[in-house]
Amino acid sequence: MKTTSMNKREILNQKLTAAKMGGGQKRIDAQHSKNKLTARERLDLLLDKNSFEEIGALIKHRSTDFGMEKTHYPGDGVVTGYGTIHGRLVYVFSQDFTVFGGSLSETHAEKICKIMDMAMKNGAPVIGLNDSGGARIQEGVVSLGGYADIFYRNTRASGVIPQLSLVMGPCAGGAVYSPAITDFILMVEDTSYMFVTGPNVVKTVTNEKVSAEDLGGASVHSEKSGVAHLTSSNDLQAIEDIKKLLSYIPQNCEDSAPELPYVIDDEIRNNLCNIVPENPNQPYDIKEVIQGIIDQESFFEIHKDFAPNIVVGFARLAGKSIGVVANQPAYLAGVLDVQSSQKAARFVRFCDCFNIPLLVLEDVPGFLPGTDQEWNAIITNGAKLLYAFSEASVPRITVITRKAYGGAYDVMNSKHIGADMNFAWPSAEIAVMGAKGAAEIIFRNEIKSAKDPDAALANKEREYADIFANPYRAAERGFVDEVIHPEQTRLKLIKAFAMLENKVDSLPQKKHGNIPL
Ligand code: HXC
Repeated sequence: MKTTSMNKREILNQKLTAAKMGGGQKRIDAQHSKNKLTARERLDLLLDKNSFEEIGALIKHRSTDFGMEKTHYPGDGVVTGYGTIHGRLVYVFSQDFTVFGGSLSETHAEKICKIMDMAMKNGAPVIGLNDSGGARIQEGVVSLGGYADIFYRNTRASGVIPQLSLVMGPCAGGAVYSPAITDFILMVEDTSYMFVTGPNVVKTVTNEKVSAEDLGGASVHSEKSGVAHLTSSNDLQAIEDIKKLLSYIPQNCEDSAPELPYVIDDEIRNNLCNIVPENPNQPYDIKEVIQGIIDQESFFEIHKDFAPNIVVGFARLAGKSIGVVANQPAYLAGVLDVQSSQKAARFVRFCDCFNIPLLVLEDVPGFLPGTDQEWNAIITNGAKLLYAFSEASVPRITVITRKAYGGAYDVMNSKHIGADMNFAWPSAEIAVMGAKGAAEIIFRNEIKSAKDPDAALANKEREYADIFANPYRAAERGFVDEVIHPEQTRLKLIKAFAMLENKVDSLPQKKHGNIPL
């Protein structure tokens, strides 16, 4: 009797040990030699100590083609389960590259779907650690079906629970579309890449020669395509970064983000007075304004290297999580263009899904003119940002630090599209366009017929600037609620966000809107 029971224990232990070893020591060593951690090492670092509970460690694939029935690794190339990060529940999957290159089989997909379904029922984020050679080639269409099952769940879960993707190895073919539907993609430099078709197919079809890194490495997707929201230098850093990101966001769409304790003290910030230059055409760094307003060292920037003419990221104000959207005069004068509109719109919608109030810092000379912009649909893309702000029902506050020109004034969370509070600094200029351009158009004939056209233009420019290059016309109409001194900004915002804490604003009943995609 006793012997049998020992055997049963041993059988279980053997199976669990085999599951822990993934594809075996040789492949684990190969993974390490590429400067990558294994699926389990990553989870150990991501989750609170001893919090991980594995689900499906003994799952086996069902494939019988190409001799697959002879090769089984318990767990089938993905470690799934739940645990906590800083005490908060999360569901996780971590693809194991040492088992068939982390490729996705029918059962591998079922494991991921199972934890996604649980996350939806229990209202907690899903964090996916991707490191996979794509569809399990030996399984054919069954694997493709598995992907689609995941994509479907990603879409259903969008806006209900946060979904975070870390890309820590290959992620190619249709496999890219699961991370693409999730809220944030973090890529690890030098060891990860994402593309729909790899270098070989590119060469065959277009005769273009390109390396995997140049086609879809972390820098390409963080700077050029904007597919990646964050990049980290290695696995360890990536895990720290994703934990930090999680600290700003709630568990689900009915929850609010975690708060840090904060006691109101002296909130006047005199250093905010010296940032905007006297000369309205001189650039300055909007990040100095952000740092001057928010809690110390709380800014977590998203999409840092993509469309730097707009800055977006999470921060804390008096301990509470906020989303910041700010024009950046230090890059392309802070103009709105195709990419910056897309970037900001996506961020605004994330914050709105998950009850994170929005702070907008505005210094925008307008939309970028030119054929490149028009041909790349600045109309549709600018409309995305306009739509995203107009639709957002979270508390929304704008501070105009300098320029608020043209259509961009409307778009950047103006009062007219539902902002709750609009402040302006005395340096604000709220007008249809800059004084020079305006004078050239409306006084064209006068200037042309003047004895000294240059002097006449300068006069008219001054006249226009005197009337419009200030915040007072807008304040007189109530388009700006208050003109404030820069040093008061933090205090005003703390009070205004507290006043808006219980805001209720519901959209008209509808199936869903039709954002100009
Ligand atoms: C089955 C795979 C696999 C796959 C890799 N392996 N990819 N097994 N299906 N898709 C196995 C390899 O046979 C090898 O097994 C082990 O994983 C490690 O692979 P290596 O090639 O030795 O590693 P490396 O040199 O690092 O190259 C990694 C790689 C390469 C670039 C990912 O393996 C590769 O190109 N794989 C195929 C990628 C691909 O074409 N996938 C299908 C994409 S289409 P052993 O036993 O030697 O350790 C797709 C469609 C999805 O995904 C559509 C969804 C809608």
